Amino acid sequence: MEINKSKQTEIKTENEPDRLLVEKVFSHKQEHVFRWWNELPENERKNLFNQLKDIDFALLQHLIKMHIKGNEPEQSNNKSTLKPPDIIPIPQNDSQRKYASESKEIGVKAIKSGKTAVITVAGGLGTRLGANQPKGTLPISPVTQKSIFQLHAEKILATMKRYDTIIPWYIMTSGNNDKMTREFFKENHFFGFSTDTVYFFTQDTLPVLDLHGMLLMDSKSTIVTSPNGHGGTFFALKEKGLVSNMNERGVRHIFYHQVDNVLINIADPVFLGYHIRKQAKMSPKVVMKTDPEEKVGIIGIRDGYLDTIEYSELSKAERHARNPDGSLRFGMGNPAIYLLDVDFVEKVTNGKFPLPYHKAVKKVSCVDDNGKRVIPAENNAVKFEMFIFDALKHAQKSIIMEVAREEEFSPVKNVDGNDSPDTAIQHMTNQFGRWLSDAGINIPRDKNGNVRGKIEISPLYALDAEELKNKISRPNCTLRNKEIVFTGELYLQ
Ligand code: UD1
Repeated sequence: MEINKSKQTEIKTENEPDRLLVEKVFSHKQEHVFRWWNELPENERKNLFNQLKDIDFALLQHLIKMHIKGNEPEQSNNKSTLKPPDIIPIPQNDSQRKYASESKEIGVKAIKSGKTAVITVAGGLGTRLGANQPKGTLPISPVTQKSIFQLHAEKILATMKRYDTIIPWYIMTSGNNDKMTREFFKENHFFGFSTDTVYFFTQDTLPVLDLHGMLLMDSKSTIVTSPNGHGGTFFALKEKGLVSNMNERGVRHIFYHQVDNVLINIADPVFLGYHIRKQAKMSPKVVMKTDPEEKVGIIGIRDGYLDTIEYSELSKAERHARNPDGSLRFGMGNPAIYLLDVDFVEKVTNGKFPLPYHKAVKKVSCVDDNGKRVIPAENNAVKFEMFIFDALKHAQKSIIMEVAREEEFSPVKNVDGNDSPDTAIQHMTNQFGRWLSDAGINIPRDKNGNVRGKIEISPLYALDAEELKNKISRPNCTLRNKEIVFTGELYLQ
């Protein structure tokens, strides 16, 4: 490989490792990152060096070769067969209900004995939401505007109280939002958690490249980087010593979910019970798609292995294929809720089950050759991410549990329309309305079945419909009067 010696010698280095680093940058033909070297102050030169030290150039070269220089295998060749998997359905009959309730007991036992932890992935940039704040800080609860983080926190606290146990909470952030996330928790006194039960860990980042494989610059001394995808959870846990931390605590099962789902049923003991009974290693929940064109990934068996297939990877025929009963053949929508065993996480991080990188072509703001900021009108950048669900195929055993979407899945992704704060607030209100109706309270609804007004039930008041019903049936509960007229807003805490 030809090295541009004349320019390389312009980059004065103080020690051998730095000299070798410069040589590496040149040998990978990324020397444009030094084009403003002569005008950079000392601290910015250091900053640039520190970033370059963090780059795995061998990996970068591999990604460029595979995904940018044209050696990428065609997706259609990859997808030779696709089948729907067997699932555990929402119980419809006595034997299914019995299986669920026996499983719940097993799950409860594991939670009570401190064998479970929660991971919330919150490292994404929330670009579609257009927020400058971590998504979890978004005020969202229907009446009191609690943040998404607070809702999750209260659900975990309520579960710990119910089962008189500790459930450690691991929150994955990224370099872009780690500080803000930690500060938010501090300002809110960790929502009542003891600080040794909540752990923040930052996922790694990867450099962002232009369409020819060159590093993009964010300023004259900063390289554009982006989080390495939620698949990075495995490696970040290991690197930050949190797998050992889990082992020391006796944690065996991890309940994993995305920060953006406001209806998440955290640490669901039925799910855990199913998973333990089957000795599963990684298990997903699914929600049935009703609209074939809904843009969620689906869970399927691809080439004999359990996998998540993104909406864009399904052909139109596959998206619209139906079973004899009219349901969608590939309708098992992926709400990105998993149970992972700690020993399985260890195997993935030990390189036993490597996760592939996926390429995403995006518009990314950067500086041009003249150091001027560019807001691109067209896609100009390539990002690489690992996906957590690529580990599914390596889990020798999995269970797939179907859950009701209206009870467990409402993500906040967009500013308006579908999956927005408005839909999340309506879905929460509808859920609480259903729980109250189940307990015999009259709740007004509009012609679409949406509850009118706003209802909020703190997880610390009732974590589910059953708990609410029990509370309401107590003689001293003021809500016992079934003729209660609900006028616009109700908050139970
Ligand atoms: C994701 C799933 C999709 C699923 C949907 C359910 C992918 C590729 N697809 O889509 O199959 O149906 O969720 O809501 O994930 N995150 C990180 N670090 C990262 C990237 C993401 O922590 O590097 C977190 C985000 O904070 C967020 C979650 O992962 O909580 C999902 O990321 P997002 O980019 O919103 O995924 P979707 O494209 O919506």
